[in-house]
Amino acid sequence: MEIKKVGVLGCGLMGAGIAQTAASAGFETTVREVSEELWQKGFAAIEKSLERFAAKGTITPEQQKQTRDRLFGTTSFDDLADCDIIIEAIIENLGEKQTTYRQLDAICKPETIFASNTSSLSITEMMAATSQKRQQRFIGMHFFNPVPLMKLVEVVRTILTAPDVYEDSVAFGKNLGKVPVRASDKTGFIVNRLLVPYMLDSIRALEEGVGSVVDIDNAMKLGCGYPMGPLTLGDFVGLDTTYYIAEIMFNEFREKRFAPPPLLKRMVMAGLYGRKSGRGFYDYTKDPKNPTPMNLV
Ligand SMILES: NC(=O)c1ccc[n+]([C@@H]2O[C@H](COP(=O)([O-])OP(=O)(O)OC[C@H]3O[C@@H](n4cnc5c(N)ncnc54)[C@H](O)[C@@H]3O)[C@@H](O)[C@H]2O)c1
Repeated sequence: MEIKKVGVLGCGLMGAGIAQTAASAGFETTVREVSEELWQKGFAAIEKSLERFAAKGTITPEQQKQTRDRLFGTTSFDDLADCDIIIEAIIENLGEKQTTYRQLDAICKPETIFASNTSSLSITEMMAATSQKRQQRFIGMHFFNPVPLMKLVEVVRTILTAPDVYEDSVAFGKNLGKVPVRASDKTGFIVNRLLVPYMLDSIRALEEGVGSVVDIDNAMKLGCGYPMGPLTLGDFVGLDTTYYIAEIMFNEFREKRFAPPPLLKRMVMAGLYGRKSGRGFYDYTKDPKNPTPMNLV
């Protein structure tokens, strides 16, 4: 099946990026939000991003206009009924996602592929909320922030995904200009499966006094050629989000390497979420940033 018409659920950080990417790649894209105000807010973010690309000369003013013209905002599920694929990027809440999928399953054409952008929930558990026929047409498409710039998409299949649906979805990922990698529905897929234990280990190293915040970051940056150290990365992702994902992965695998270290838990309890709250391993309220003073022993 050739995918032509794209639906996106949610126009927050990820939904807006996905919608922009789809429309830029030439797909007619309908975006559903819970209120008109919210899809308009998302579209304003898209407009800003397109302006930046145009100013840099990455896209022409004509391409900017064409992308805009391919985007439609709505609050109605009915406008998604004839989409070939619907990519869901609503809040990370299983109940909310299942309710949404149940509603969509009842109105979408039988061929519509359902794709979730979840980072940590089980695709299989969401799939289970839909009818038996739809279950073969259910996948994960995990994009990375910021979506218009990040090349990777993890295309995830469950034990029931039909082979042709999976191949069509991988091809669609390429048509979006991304590099798709294939992964199975095990919590964390490929990237978080490898990245999360690494980030948690860096916090354990700090806890155990192996090195200071700055030295741990510099060691991994300069010793491994990583663009940023693991503690800076944690602040960037959000320590609350990191904690939440670690908990879910620990529940799935019951392995110590996924267990959130006590220091991470205490930083979250203390409101040190990273960049978004102004303080995490570093204090961003001052320029230049310095490590946040913490009593570690
Ligand atoms: N933030 C990231 O870096 C990142 C990366 C990869 C995947 N994800 C996943 O993407 C999803 C969205 O994350 P986000 O960071 O964009 O969140 P966000 O909070 O920025 O956006 C979520 C949006 O969904 C809307 N929404 C809620 N219920 C809805 C519904 N029933 N229909 C339509 N819209 C609805 C909300 O109004 C909100 O605007 C989550 O599943 C998250 O795990 C996030």
